[in-house]
Amino acid sequence: MHLRHDERHRATLTLNGQSRSAEAEPRMQLCDFLRHQLGATGTHVGCEHGVCGACTVLVDGRAVRSCLMLAVQADGQRVDTVESLDEGETMSELQLAFRRHHALQCGFCTAGILMSCDEFLRRVPAPTERQVRDMLSGHLCRCTGYTGIVQAVLDVAGTRQAALEEST
Ligand code: FES
Ligand code: FES
Repeated sequence: MHLRHDERHRATLTLNGQSRSAEAEPRMQLCDFLRHQLGATGTHVGCEHGVCGACTVLVDGRAVRSCLMLAVQADGQRVDTVESLDEGETMSELQLAFRRHHALQCGFCTAGILMSCDEFLRRVPAPTERQVRDMLSGHLCRCTGYTGIVQAVLDVAGTRQAALEEST
């Protein structure tokens, strides 16, 4: 597809389970499209060049840095942001574990880290601490020092494994 830089194109995606559509310039990054065109401001933007991980979202279930993807590339795909973790009255299991283990301070990095952790725990349900730390190496947090984040992820993994063992 050849796109002229001054043209606007309609991108339609399934955002957190709902079909959403808006116009985007060909060079608009997915993170800006989510925040400014679709109002999904839970996704944060830090470095804007793929280093900090703050902008991480799931695209068709895989963790992606939304500052490195164009909005038009997400056309027709499923995108899940931190808002997808909202369970109405309560926070998700992962968010509650972050709170319990003091895994955030300013929270700027947290939305992206939660999305990576969410995908990681589905892919690696019983991780070692080393695997958790490897996964987190793609994220920069200037506040917490990571220990609380690692503990939160291991806590959720342990709880899920125990529930699984109980049910079998
Ligand atoms: Fe995308 Fe930093 S804002 S990786
Ligand atoms: Fe502040 Fe991570 S909690 S940057």
